[in-house]
Amino acid sequence: VRVSIVGGGLIGASWAALFASTGGHDVAAWDPSKEAREAFGEKAAKAGAQLLELGARHAGSIRVCDRLEEALEGAAWVQENAPERLDLKLQLYAQMETAVPADAILASSTSSLTWSQLAPGLREPQRLVIAHPFNPPHLVPLVELFAPDGDTLKRAVAFFEGVGCVPVCLKKEATGHIGNRLASALWREAVNIVAEGIGSVEDVDRVLMHGPGLRWAVVGTHMGYHLGGGEGGIEHYLRHLGPSQERRWASLGNPKLTPEVCELLARGVREEAAGRSIEELEAMRDAQLIDILRTRQS
Ligand SMILES: NC(=O)c1ccc[n+]([C@@H]2O[C@H](COP(=O)([O-])OP(=O)(O)OC[C@H]3O[C@@H](n4cnc5c(N)ncnc54)[C@H](O)[C@@H]3O)[C@@H](O)[C@H]2O)c1
Repeated sequence: VRVSIVGGGLIGASWAALFASTGGHDVAAWDPSKEAREAFGEKAAKAGAQLLELGARHAGSIRVCDRLEEALEGAAWVQENAPERLDLKLQLYAQMETAVPADAILASSTSSLTWSQLAPGLREPQRLVIAHPFNPPHLVPLVELFAPDGDTLKRAVAFFEGVGCVPVCLKKEATGHIGNRLASALWREAVNIVAEGIGSVEDVDRVLMHGPGLRWAVVGTHMGYHLGGGEGGIEHYLRHLGPSQERRWASLGNPKLTPEVCELLARGVREEAAGRSIEELEAMRDAQLIDILRTRQS
């Protein structure tokens, strides 16, 4: 299948690698920035090499185009990964719609905008689907989907299953979809814990990585509490420990990102990074993600 990548930054390059290496699709990418177009090949190749480690067999192709229209020509699937600005995306959609084939689907990677906010950018909004990944999309299988049109949604599920993703369809649109709403709820309290001096930035991350985060990779939060109820399952858990959850909810904080709190967070993360560069930290993250994915495959 011909696939277009529009916006070739962090997310666009990673999607391109997945679509080509795992999906076997022919990818044509465009980015208005010359620098981004030049960096794109190397970023996608690095992600593609990681997918080979995970056993990707298909050999799709990736090419970078100088013009948007060229990248859209003949595309059945268009994945938009432009900056997170509503005005920019709406303007881009109007430009794209004149160049895409009549039955092409337009998928947006947007993290925080909703289908209803983006749809006015198109004359034929039924072709639009929210398809939100988690960074890095080529290694984290989740994709969150939302589209009112049943046929578009069905095609989106099939497309993402075909590239090895795990699609989850939202029943109703919501700012931040599901994953980032959960992540934001958790991070709000993580910031509060640092601001209140309950634990350091590193303490919070260690708690997550070695405790709840490890468990969440195997059983989600609801199933975790089902098991927390022992033989009696979730019903017993709710009777036994439900009131303690409500007391905890009442004690959670609602921090503000004041300059002081931002400085605390930045200093804490610098300490936790202990001189490691972003590139080194990404390499460590990716190597461990690949190990986990391999274990899940076996
Ligand atoms: N970074 C994340 O963790 C993450 C995760 C999931 C989804 N997203 C979403 O993916 C999208 C892209 O985010 P990113 O992190 O890759 O950003 P990025 O800044 O790395 O990349 C954005 C790219 O878009 C290009 N661009 C600028 N103007 C454009 C235009 N008019 N048309 C097309 N491209 C244009 C830029 O040159 C840049 O290369 C956003 O909607 C974001 O919400 C990001």
